[in-house]
Amino acid sequence: MTRDLLVLDAVTKRYRSGPPAVDGVSLRVGSGETVALVGESGSGKSTLARLALGLLAPDSGTVRFDGHDPGRLFGRAARPVRARLQFVPQHPRGSLNPALRAGEAVAFALRVHGTPRAERPALVADLFHKVGLDPALARRRPRELSGGQLQRVAVARALATGPDLIVCDEPTSALDTTVQAQVLDLLTGLQRRLGLALLFISHDLGVVRQLAHRVVVLRHGRVVEEATPDALWHTPRHSYTRALLAADTPPATQ
Ligand SMILES: Nc1ncnc2c1ncn2[C@@H]1O[C@H](COP(=O)(O)OP(=O)(O)OP(=O)(O)O)[C@@H](O)[C@H]1O
Ligand SMILES: [Mg+2]
Repeated sequence: MTRDLLVLDAVTKRYRSGPPAVDGVSLRVGSGETVALVGESGSGKSTLARLALGLLAPDSGTVRFDGHDPGRLFGRAARPVRARLQFVPQHPRGSLNPALRAGEAVAFALRVHGTPRAERPALVADLFHKVGLDPALARRRPRELSGGQLQRVAVARALATGPDLIVCDEPTSALDTTVQAQVLDLLTGLQRRLGLALLFISHDLGVVRQLAHRVVVLRHGRVVEEATPDALWHTPRHSYTRALLAADTPPATQ
């Protein structure tokens, strides 16, 4: 049994209109564990990601990251905890400042978390190596990088602060299949080498099967099933899970 890192307990979030986007969800991610969150479009995955990161406050229920409420990690005192919880979004082009060079974006994350200026260039180069990018690309701006390269920059930026847990919201869905596989290999490798925990959101069950230790199936904001990938594929208990599996197209054979 791993140590609990992220614990959501009966979390509910309703936007201004309509039914709750997230409705009484409880889940945990242990240290070094990859938990996949799957469900069709609109099932509440991104809302749950934002709740887990403290970017949204729940209407009821609690979110704890290593015992702290991530929505209250403000100010200098909270930095060391904040640094351990990071995010890789679906569209890095939207989340990286177009005016900043890729290296500056990563250096900025280091600066926010208190790394002295003199140490930043070497650390940026090291982070570029870690994510399989030529450090020469650090001088390029986002518009001069491909989608796959940008997603690696987003991963480097997330790694900059030495996280224990990264929330990845569909990190490969905007990429074509080959690049998708490369970014997934990168995340899986980092997860193993650095002992990272991942909350990995995807609607692609093939992707999830590759890397998850546990899979949580979300429907209309509620957890309908939670299982290991093998159990889920061989004996899905819920009809919705069976429908998701049936809709999943197997990878093309060579
Ligand atoms: N800012 C918002 N204001 C109002 N409703 C929202 C907002 N964001 C999301 N919703 C609604 O909440 C529900 C869950 O949305 P969410 O983005 O969490 O789903 P998702 O599972 O991430 O979907 P997708 O796979 O398309 O990214 C949807 O019905 C959506 O329309
Ligand atoms: Mg989403």
